[in-house]
This record gives sequence, structure tokens and C-alpha cells, in this order.
Amino acid sequence: MDYQWYPGHMTRAKRQMQEDIRLVDLVIELTDARAPLSGRNPDIDSLAAGKSRILVLNKSDLSDPDQNRTWTAYFRRKGLIACEVNARSGGGIRQIRPMIQEACREKIERDRKRGIVNRPLRAMIAGIPNVGKSTFINSFARKSAAKTGNKPGVTRGRQWISVDKSLQLLDTPGILWPKFDDREVGIRLAAIGCIRDEILNSQELAVWLIGFLRSEYPGILEERFGVPAEGTGSDVLLRIAEARKCLKPGPEPDPEKAAQLLLDEFRAGKLGRLTLEDARQAEG
Ligand code: G4P
Repeated sequence: MDYQWYPGHMTRAKRQMQEDIRLVDLVIELTDARAPLSGRNPDIDSLAAGKSRILVLNKSDLSDPDQNRTWTAYFRRKGLIACEVNARSGGGIRQIRPMIQEACREKIERDRKRGIVNRPLRAMIAGIPNVGKSTFINSFARKSAAKTGNKPGVTRGRQWISVDKSLQLLDTPGILWPKFDDREVGIRLAAIGCIRDEILNSQELAVWLIGFLRSEYPGILEERFGVPAEGTGSDVLLRIAEARKCLKPGPEPDPEKAAQLLLDEFRAGKLGRLTLEDARQAEG
């Protein structure tokens, strides 16, 4: 598969994040619960060095509930404060506030000893594109939250959203670029829709997804499309094309349309709540 990245954007995003991170006490990192490892950029460890951290497994409404629990436990064992969230509906958002207190406990204590009271904690949301950063900010800070901070044109500076009197959120999220030296990581990110469709081959991706689903979630394809799932992935794609009337003029089955349909339905959760990375394997 051929991925085209734009090094200029990547460098700018990283530089911006390096600047912004100096302004915050805490980084709330989002990953995609359907591929929690692939959805993280390892640079976050150096970028957020010395800051308190929380890891949010977002879009948990689309991922396998058993895997959500196992992944959350996995990250907690690694020493991260982690939780699952559905930023779109607001599900799980309420646990974030107490987690922030927990993550920043040492800092709050240090401030208190120095006589610093009532200084709000400042947090940044970070993650790869499409992971749900803006949705999370809206959901967490609620639409009614007041924007504070420097007025544009008066002083150049960042905008802060007051979540409450003791917590402010940077209104622009930190963008981490996806990292996929490993081909499988790129494929998983593409499958969940973090990499735009125009820059990848949908049929190849759909065939990969068919292989994955047959092995990890047997019966799912048959159930959704009412077709046998044996044979090659391309055979299955043609059957899906016929079953769903994805046709070229002729009429003959159009595997490209079927690939797009399969990917769209997978991403929308119509095949069920599925996770592409097995937490039990990560345990080793
Ligand atoms: P970003 O800032 O990290 O780039 O991501 P953004 O919030 O724009 O979210 C990307 C897409 O993911 C949006 O869908 C958003 O609604 C969806 N999303 C975010 N969080 C969740 C979640 O927890 N569950 C589900 N199911 N979806 C989530 P979109 O199709 O691009 O826009 P729209 O249809 O919501 O308007």
C-alpha cells in the first residue's frame, strides 16, 4: 500500500505541540479503542515527558466490550491512568474529572505546600487525526463552557476553555501523526478510517478485513451479508457485491463498490462492535 504523508504538516504539528505542551500540566491522550496500540504515536512519551498523563480509549461504542475492558486493564498495569469513552454520546466522560485529580495529585500537593491555591490545572487533548479530539473537547467542556484567555489581536496566545474553576482545557488539540513503520499498523489505521480513503487501495484493505474477520470474528460476514465467507477474500468481495447489488454496467459485480461498502459498514459499527487488536496478545 502506498501512503502519502505531508512532511511539512507533520513537522508543523509537532512543533506546535512542543510549544503548547509547555503551557499545560496534563496531557489527555486519545487513542482509538478499535486499535489502541496502532492509534498511539510513541513520540508522546518524549513530547509529554514530565507531564501528568491520562489515556482515553475513545469510540468505545464501536469496539468489542470485552477487549475494551482488557485493554484498559492492560494500560493500567503499564502505569497509565486509562479509561474507555464514547466522546460522541458523552458516555464515560464523567470519570475523566476525578482521573485528572488523581493524575495531578503530586502537583496539586506541591502547589499547596508552596502556598499556591486556586490556580487552575491546565490540560491538552492530544491524538492522531480523526481519533475524536474535537468531539471529546466539546463533550468534556460542554458547549456552554466559557472561553477565556487572551483576546485575539491584543496578545498572541492560546485560547483556554474553563471546564470548571479548577480546570482549563486548551481549545486546540495536539495533533500526533500516525506512525506506521509496521505495515499492519498502517492497515489497521486505514481500516478504522484514520487514514483517508483516497490514499489507499480499498480493495486490498477490504480483502485484509475479510481475512481478519473470518479469523477473529467468525460468522460475522455471513450474518451481515448473507453470503458464504469461504474461498479467497476477493471471492467473498464479489459475493458481497452481488448480494448488495454493487454492480458495474453489464451488469457485473463491482468489487470496488463492495469494498467501499464493507469498509463503510465496518467503520460505522454495522458489523458489530469489533476490535482489530487483541489485548490478550499484547499481554504476551
Ligand atoms: P479529531 O478532532 O481527532 O480529528 O476528530 P473529530 O472529533 O473530528 O472526530 C472524527 C469523527 O469521529 C467524527 O465523525 C466524530 O463524530 C467521530 N467520533 C468522535 N468520537 C466518537 C466516539 O466516541 N464514537 C463514535 N462512534 N464516533 C466518534 P464524522 O463522521 O467525521 O463527523 P460527524 O458525522 O460526527 O459529523
